[in-house]
Amino acid sequence: MASKVFLGAPRALRQLQRTQWRSFTSTTQKRSDALMVHRDSAVNNPNIPFKFTPQNEGLIKEILSRYPSQYKKAAVMPLLDLGQRQHGFTSISVMNEVARLLEMPPMRVYEVATFYTMYNRSPVGRFHVQCCTTTPCQLRDSDSIMKAIEDHLGIHHGQTTADGLFTFTEVECLGACANAPMVQINDDYYEDLTYDTTVSLLKALQNSVEATGAKPGDSGLGGEAGKDKNVKSGNEAGGVKVPAPGPLSGRKSCEPAAGLTSLTSEPWGNETLRKDGAL
Ligand code: FES
Repeated sequence: MASKVFLGAPRALRQLQRTQWRSFTSTTQKRSDALMVHRDSAVNNPNIPFKFTPQNEGLIKEILSRYPSQYKKAAVMPLLDLGQRQHGFTSISVMNEVARLLEMPPMRVYEVATFYTMYNRSPVGRFHVQCCTTTPCQLRDSDSIMKAIEDHLGIHHGQTTADGLFTFTEVECLGACANAPMVQINDDYYEDLTYDTTVSLLKALQNSVEATGAKPGDSGLGGEAGKDKNVKSGNEAGGVKVPAPGPLSGRKSCEPAAGLTSLTSEPWGNETLRKDGAL
């Protein structure tokens, strides 16, 4: 028995040596609590009062009428969105006010606001530029779009320009993959971008702000301070033409860029009869 154990030991040793230890990821882990944790700051703490405007109170009434009164907490997402549009970002005071209106524990509102990345829980610039870098956009060179934004604005993703005009964020798929690469600026999608069209777009937005005298620090996403300035993509602002949202390549939508390759003949419809007379 003792000799068997002794004879088997080299084999066990060899198997041990062959064991491969491989990590599941080759990149270093980034630990961030930015998405989950609120930390009080001068511009975002529960002592800053927040109330919805009378106009938004009317909208809230309309939104609440869509739900049975015992389920009014179902309106938490549209109310958070309304709060963000009014205040410029989803501050802790916005969340607390929504919790008060919907008679929900504030923690339940925090859970929603921290789950969805569309709720900006820190201030953003007048224009929030979100660049998609998920696979379809990356395959169509979203790297050069990221570079165009970085080169022109002089900031990296996650940062805001010193004048408070632009915030740059890298995001996952925004659902416009057929028109990749693309960015979302505030509520608008700009698609089929190249390095040059991205720079022109950013320049047009900058020029329009200068031409209209809108303060760069006006809050983004239609915050109250910026609402009356009419600096919006797709508009002519102060004589400066800002490109309309959509593809900037000349495509109307997501039709084939090089023209149709199928379904090129006259489609059969109910009104079309076969020429042989059978139908
Ligand atoms: S991958 Fe960019 S929009 Fe879908």
